[in-house]
Amino acid sequence: MCPQGSEQHPETRLAKRTFGLERSAIREMFDLAQQYDDDDLVHLEIGEPDFDTPAHITEAATTAAEGGATHYTSNAGLPELRAAIADDITSEHRYDPDANVIVTAGAMEALSLAFLTLVDPGDEVIVPTPAWPNYRTQTAMVGGEYVEVPLDREQGFALDTERLAASINDDTALVLLTTPSNPTGQVYDRDAIARIVSTAAAHDAVVVADEVYKDLVYDTTATAVADATDHPEHVVTLGSCSKTYAMTGWRVGWFAAPEPVVDAATKFHESVVACAPSVSQHAALAALTGDQAPIEEMYEAFRRRRDLLVDLVDALPTVTCPRPEGAFYAFLDVSSVDADSMTISKRLLDEHGVVTAPGVGFGADVDDHLRVSFATDEDRLTEGFERIGQFLEAEGV
Ligand SMILES: Cc1ncc(COP(=O)(O)O)c(C=O)c1O
Repeated sequence: MCPQGSEQHPETRLAKRTFGLERSAIREMFDLAQQYDDDDLVHLEIGEPDFDTPAHITEAATTAAEGGATHYTSNAGLPELRAAIADDITSEHRYDPDANVIVTAGAMEALSLAFLTLVDPGDEVIVPTPAWPNYRTQTAMVGGEYVEVPLDREQGFALDTERLAASINDDTALVLLTTPSNPTGQVYDRDAIARIVSTAAAHDAVVVADEVYKDLVYDTTATAVADATDHPEHVVTLGSCSKTYAMTGWRVGWFAAPEPVVDAATKFHESVVACAPSVSQHAALAALTGDQAPIEEMYEAFRRRRDLLVDLVDALPTVTCPRPEGAFYAFLDVSSVDADSMTISKRLLDEHGVVTAPGVGFGADVDDHLRVSFATDEDRLTEGFERIGQFLEAEGV
């Protein structure tokens, strides 16, 4: 027997850091849905665009591969891509492409680099919730302490700047700001962001700005966190081609940070992936610098779906959600149903064939919410809400 083995599998060697890791509730629902042999399921749990990558991007990648772009690139990535990324992230030229940008395997790798370079065991990672579940797992991976700051549902989960600032202290390593937010679609304003970064700076903490949805904003414009502050040295910005360009499978994202952080992060990046996939980097370059017309079409489709979704939610008598200002999610308050969010999600799947993400995965305080995605076409979205309506009617609410 191996003394390091887990309690469930005493004969199997496992590092202790694996013990407390939880699977995301979204994945759990996704896996459950796979067990249903039903083409008619309506998938509203999905976190990726239903569009294929625009043809000019795929063609650029094919041409690059045929032309020999099948080797490692430099660890940091293609210089011309880094330049395009630096231009894309901020309008105030906060990042020097050579010193401050690493092309990563998606924003998920960029997030790992932030945790690896900035969090010591026991350090606090402050996350306004509801939030994307990955932050909790990444905190556990580096032995940090995950601290939730629940946002007020009565205020539509708007950023509570006072409360968040008050929670930042000398043990804080990171504060996560996701704007637009997954799962609420809220977009944070310049003053609120500036206040949080300056509080973080006063405690020598760093704000990690997760801006993967920054181009999918419908009623307002998103402010880049690095642009909103006089303390860009206390900001790490993550971004990605995944959502804006319908490129989730290409795995291209970025990590932008002050030079010493980038130097440290490059060592982890080099050891783990060496570089982002070369062919995908060429695709990303075409995405950022090529024809934007197909990308605007996708954006317009998301905007129409957002408007439709707002109407569909309004038509349900006992369900509400904050109006999604960005991303492609709505966070539904289903507290009128007398059950927890996992039970509701499972019943919606089992009895009505509609897949949702239970609120419990997004924070301690939202076990009476469901996340639905509008990254699906208008007919399926309408059908999904009809089924949710039937469920509510059967529950008598
Ligand atoms: C808030 C947020 N950040 C980061 C990511 C990761 O994106 P990528 O595909 O670039 O790794 C996701 C994916 O769902 C997300 O929702």
